[in-house]
Amino acid sequence: MSKTKTVWFCQDCGHKQAKWAGQCPTCQKWNTLQEEVDLKPSSFKFESESKKPQKPRRLSEVNLNETPRIKTNINEIDRLLGGGLVPGSLSLIGGDPGIGKSTLLLQLSQALTKKGLTVLYISGEESLEQTSLRARRLNLNSDKLFVLAETNFSLIKQEIDDLKPDVLVVDSIQIVYKPEIGSAPGSVTQVRETTTEFMHLAKGRSLSTFLIGHVTKSGEIAGPRVLEHLVDTVLYFEGDKQQQYRMIRVIKNRFGGTDEIAVFQMTSEGLIEIPNPSQIFLEERRRHSMGSVIIPTLEGTRPILIEAQALVTDTVFPTPSRKATGLDANRLSLLLAVLEKRLNLPLYKTDVFVSIAGGLKITEPAVDLGILLAITSSARNRVVDPETCVMGEVGLGGEIRSVPRVESRIKEAIQMGFKRAILPNRNLKGISAPFKEKIELVGIDMVDEAIEAVCGR
Ligand SMILES: Nc1ncnc2c1ncn2[C@@H]1O[C@H](COP(=O)(O)OP(=O)(O)OP(=O)(O)O)[C@@H](O)[C@H]1O
Ligand SMILES: [Mg+2]
Ligand SMILES: [Zn+2]
Repeated sequence: MSKTKTVWFCQDCGHKQAKWAGQCPTCQKWNTLQEEVDLKPSSFKFESESKKPQKPRRLSEVNLNETPRIKTNINEIDRLLGGGLVPGSLSLIGGDPGIGKSTLLLQLSQALTKKGLTVLYISGEESLEQTSLRARRLNLNSDKLFVLAETNFSLIKQEIDDLKPDVLVVDSIQIVYKPEIGSAPGSVTQVRETTTEFMHLAKGRSLSTFLIGHVTKSGEIAGPRVLEHLVDTVLYFEGDKQQQYRMIRVIKNRFGGTDEIAVFQMTSEGLIEIPNPSQIFLEERRRHSMGSVIIPTLEGTRPILIEAQALVTDTVFPTPSRKATGLDANRLSLLLAVLEKRLNLPLYKTDVFVSIAGGLKITEPAVDLGILLAITSSARNRVVDPETCVMGEVGLGGEIRSVPRVESRIKEAIQMGFKRAILPNRNLKGISAPFKEKIELVGIDMVDEAIEAVCGR
């Protein structure tokens, strides 16, 4: 008898090698390699593979009406998915512990049962009592919503065969296991194999499936990257647990655009959609406060007005501290360097804190100018007019670069009652006349001009 061979898997990226190493050679992460049983692909078959072979078809003959989308009636979710749930699609939902993944999917399940669909909710992580307690809190009551506390894949599959649900929710993929695989639940091999099984189930039976995925310390979905390749859609829960607002972001979508975001509010009755996020992000703002600037930013196709806050104070330490919350720390360093060079602001003697209010994370460079003005406003003790908003990317020479899709940003600003917008000169030329009647548009080329226009001399 040959003894079982083991190999080492990187739990982060799925890299496989024969020997242990401290650092993964593929993703360069430390202490991610774990020993698992080596599986030969031929040593077992996927239980759920659909058996009937398919004939090739002409692409032009594939009838697109064959896959109508199911509207979930949670508008924000429909928008995220690109217009509704695609039957037979496989979605992965990741997020920090306790952020609301189970809550969202129970609510979504209920919404889908209202459409006449049968939903099977696999609650591997919580007992049936816990799940039904939550269901009661969320006011869920549907004859078509079934809950199963099981973690063995074969048994789950049997129940799916019996019940023949239209929608399946797996809470979570890290806890489901196949006993014939020697590795522990949640290991790379288990997660990859069970996800592949669920993929075959989804595609073979047109069973729309949602997998809940845990997040590692570094903020990625636990289990290898291959997981993200296997599924059609990857949704990501963001937001501070302390704050009641939660953002869901689309990382990948085979049936729609990515980078879309939806905002929800966590309440005792579950998650509530926020159709107009600008409003809530601006709600708590103190008007006429120093270091505060409003920026129209773009998340996917949706413009959202956010408040950037900066605090500049004299430092008591030899090295001043710089903290960025909700934006990239390198970007902040760059903006500070531009300010020092172009305007002789002595920022080397000061601590600088910058944050995006509301817990949103912004990556687009169009917020540069707003951040820079917030810092200047705090450093010079000048208030920025609360009815002015600011957009523009800042170059190393202090030049202002144009931003994409400026009209939708301006439109949102007008809707939220702003009277003046500072924007790159290049963008100004492309804006159509009706906008110019509703809001004063100030085009600028350089950082200094923007500061003069907003904070005075
Ligand atoms: N009575 C309540 N009122 C308001 N919010 C609540 C209440 N009960 C729970 N919550 C919120 O729900 C969150 C837990 O949601 P949920 O269990 O869906 O998260 P999860 O992402 O599935 O967590 P896990 O990773 O542990 O499975 C809590 O962090 C809390 O914010
Ligand atoms: Mg949960
Ligand atoms: Zn790796």
